[in-house]
Amino acid sequence: MSEKKPYYITTPIYYPSGNPHIGHCYTTLACDVVARLKRMQGYDVMFLTGLDEHGQKIEKKAEEAGITPQAYVDEIAAKFVKLWETMGITYDRFIRTTDSYHVESVQHIFEELYKKGYIYKSEYKGKYCTPCESFWTESQLVNGKCPDCGRDVTDASEEAYFFKLSEFAPRLEALLLDEEKNFLEPKSRVNEMINNFIKPGLQDLCVSRTSFKWGIPVTFDEGHIVYVWVDALSNYITALGYQNGTYNDFEKYWPADVHVMAKEIVRFHTLIWPAMLMALDLPLPKKVYGHGWITFSGGKMSKSSGNVIDPFVLVDRYGIDSIRYHLLREMPFGSDMPYTNEAMFNRINCDLANDLGNLVSRTVAMVDKYFAGTLLEEQQVIDSDEELLAMTDKLYDAVISDYETLHISDGLEKIFRVIARANKFIDENEPWKLAKDDSMKVRLSTVLYILLDTIRRCTILLSPVMPHIAPEIFEQIGACEKCTALEAANVRFELKKDITVKKGRVLFPRIDIEKEIAELEALSAGEKKEEDDGQPLEPLKENCVFDDFMKLDLRAGKVLSCEKVKKSDKLLCFQIDDGFGGRQILSGIAKYYEPEELVGKMIAFVANFPARKMMGLESNGMILSCKFGDGYKVVELDPNTKPGSDIG
Ligand code: MSP
Repeated sequence: MSEKKPYYITTPIYYPSGNPHIGHCYTTLACDVVARLKRMQGYDVMFLTGLDEHGQKIEKKAEEAGITPQAYVDEIAAKFVKLWETMGITYDRFIRTTDSYHVESVQHIFEELYKKGYIYKSEYKGKYCTPCESFWTESQLVNGKCPDCGRDVTDASEEAYFFKLSEFAPRLEALLLDEEKNFLEPKSRVNEMINNFIKPGLQDLCVSRTSFKWGIPVTFDEGHIVYVWVDALSNYITALGYQNGTYNDFEKYWPADVHVMAKEIVRFHTLIWPAMLMALDLPLPKKVYGHGWITFSGGKMSKSSGNVIDPFVLVDRYGIDSIRYHLLREMPFGSDMPYTNEAMFNRINCDLANDLGNLVSRTVAMVDKYFAGTLLEEQQVIDSDEELLAMTDKLYDAVISDYETLHISDGLEKIFRVIARANKFIDENEPWKLAKDDSMKVRLSTVLYILLDTIRRCTILLSPVMPHIAPEIFEQIGACEKCTALEAANVRFELKKDITVKKGRVLFPRIDIEKEIAELEALSAGEKKEEDDGQPLEPLKENCVFDDFMKLDLRAGKVLSCEKVKKSDKLLCFQIDDGFGGRQILSGIAKYYEPEELVGKMIAFVANFPARKMMGLESNGMILSCKFGDGYKVVELDPNTKPGSDIG
């Protein structure tokens, strides 16, 4: 027997700096679809995912939580593993950059790059964004802020090692422009890499740090730790056993067939990573795909911006395959996908309940009703059947090619066009009329057979996306194992002619959209309330007299602008419309808000405290906030309140 061909696909390794969310799911789901397809095609698949556990941000978060960084990442790692199980992800290996084999490999890689002269020691000066762990040049900043997350950056300088990235610019440009290789898709990102990064001049890359501890130590220079991208990107080869004795898969699987990720880290994968591999004299990955973002009210839905929709809740309420289908169907290749639960409910109701679910249940019910569950051996195919049959014939090549090239949404759209055509086929042939005429029995059986066979072929192609529902559909239509193999999707009439169906449950119950939205809102309000639970309340204060209270001048104010105060991690600086020409107030709630979240809110403030200076800025009053979980939330008033209105 010939050896199976290897196929290696990877997701990024995610930061366990917060709980996993629906945004992380898209990349992993897309890879899962390709991995499942490749296994169906007979490949020996290595599907790698994992976590990028080092860095300053994790160190800080652990400190805030009062636990060690390792304990912190262990806890979140368990949640990622649970999420992938919940989503039906069939990864083959899960790497954590704190795994000792990875640490060992990265130390070797760093030493090797140093010995070869690609790493040198110097001084780093730059603009640094702590949440993104990224240094930026002045020209890359957007309005003086981090171009990825829009937050403030700080000047930073320290002794550090550098990787000679600049030396690779011509080879990287050639790689990106190589029409045959088609290294990076979608094509629009190629221009982005060349125009935004290569043309302005690639800078050497800072690859070590001394300012924090949570990372892999540089073996030959105490105090330095390997800085994020050399550590993180190496995972794709260390997980195969490169420079370690734990695994022995490097020869078999490297170079990777495809690295999949969202657009914001494409530059690391198409500039730094190939340059590192070139420096190590290793083959380059065959393909990098940079998809768009799932966005939430305009911005990227990320761990830091709150308002995250809990994937565990969604799967629990609407079913694993419905969520898989929705995310994969809704994300157009290369562009962003605004996420709303409403769009998901519509997809479930239209595509899954109305089109697919109904097609299966109507067809099976008619076979039951008109033929007691078993069709006739004899058939009568007529010319007008050809349109549906020919349309289904075209699916196999088209859908496989769409899946393989990560155009999963396009592939699904094609399948659902055939499903819609099949529903129309029922209406055109009017089986209920044929059933009234005994002479049309054979024709009626053929109509139902064509429908069952179309369902079979579509379901095979749907199965990488909906692997849990597919076997149920096969069972309902009576499909045998052989006729559900991938290649059988390319063959007409593989089902036995006198097939016996088996009625089953309703595959996709319809969702009452308004009711569900209300329930989800109630659920998330409940969750918010729970955050307060367990927090001891402040004891009540001693009585005070009414006159004392009346001395305070409490007013309503509208937040006109809000910014972080430089060099302070506590203070926010507000400009308030107070109804009397405006005032500036400082408030120590920076840890609980992104400043922009507060703009436009109607808040309550004490208007008659004497002015006070903090961090060189004057504060004229105090914004009222209420304890909320571990932090505070500002007291919000009706947004239509007139600024300056008296509170009392
Ligand atoms: N640790 C780095 C990656 C190192 S890879 C060698 C990192 N981690 S991350 O946790 O921020 O993950 C980013 C990736 O998560 C994105 O590139 C994408 O694959 C996925 N997504 C996270 N949020 C997402 C959306 N809102 N939308 C789509 N994908 C997103 O960067």
